[in-house]
Amino acid sequence: MLSIIETPRLLLRPFQPDDAYGIFQMDTDPKVMHFLGGVRLKTSAEAIQTVNHVIQQYEERGIGRYTVIEKDTGDYVGWSGLKLEKSDVKGYEKYYDLGYRLLQKHWGKGYATESAIASVEFGFDTLQLSEILGRVFIQHQASQNVLHKAGLRRFMKINATDFFYRITKKEYQERF
Ligand SMILES: CC(C)(COP(=O)(O)OP(=O)(O)OC[C@H]1O[C@@H](n2cnc3c(N)ncnc32)[C@H](O)[C@@H]1OP(=O)(O)O)[C@@H](O)C(=O)NCCC(=O)NCCS
Repeated sequence: MLSIIETPRLLLRPFQPDDAYGIFQMDTDPKVMHFLGGVRLKTSAEAIQTVNHVIQQYEERGIGRYTVIEKDTGDYVGWSGLKLEKSDVKGYEKYYDLGYRLLQKHWGKGYATESAIASVEFGFDTLQLSEILGRVFIQHQASQNVLHKAGLRRFMKINATDFFYRITKKEYQERF
């Protein structure tokens, strides 16, 4: 179910075609892509494909990442939110993943945390999920901080490079 999510400083809304410019800026920035395997996107056509892919996920999986907009300015901040992820981790072949990617100029303002908390609330209160996971690089302290502040806790070392974080509905109800 697609919605618009409002937080004190942000709007989270479904992707739309003109988000491709912001995606291009982020996905060609080596600092943004540092913990994500480095820059792979090269052309604006690929950024348009990325946007279309997320819009297709809304149709096929019922959910996907949301675009983050700064309410005061209307500026594009990045994306944040839930994705029905598929993986080869035993027992977690399908799971709801919390993720975020922001333009560098918006780092350090607490926006990732604010959007992550809102996404967790949306996942449990509106989508009625039973648990939400986040997969994060072991050395990525900033992202682990965001997951932690959104209520997720480290529960599995997947391999030499990645942790799983998780919050269950029961933990959410006890926490918030
Ligand atoms: C990860 C990311 C979303 C964090 O954005 P942000 O704006 O710094 O997030 P917030 O301001 O909400 O908070 C980040 C937390 O990490 C801390 N942090 C920021 N940079 C850090 C760093 N280099 N090392 C350790 N901690 C760091 C902040 O201090 C804050 O924690 P605190 O509130 O306890 O002090 C942003 O850096 C980003 O978009 N990175 C590129 C994409 C990415 O890596 N996504 C996650 C993939 S798992």
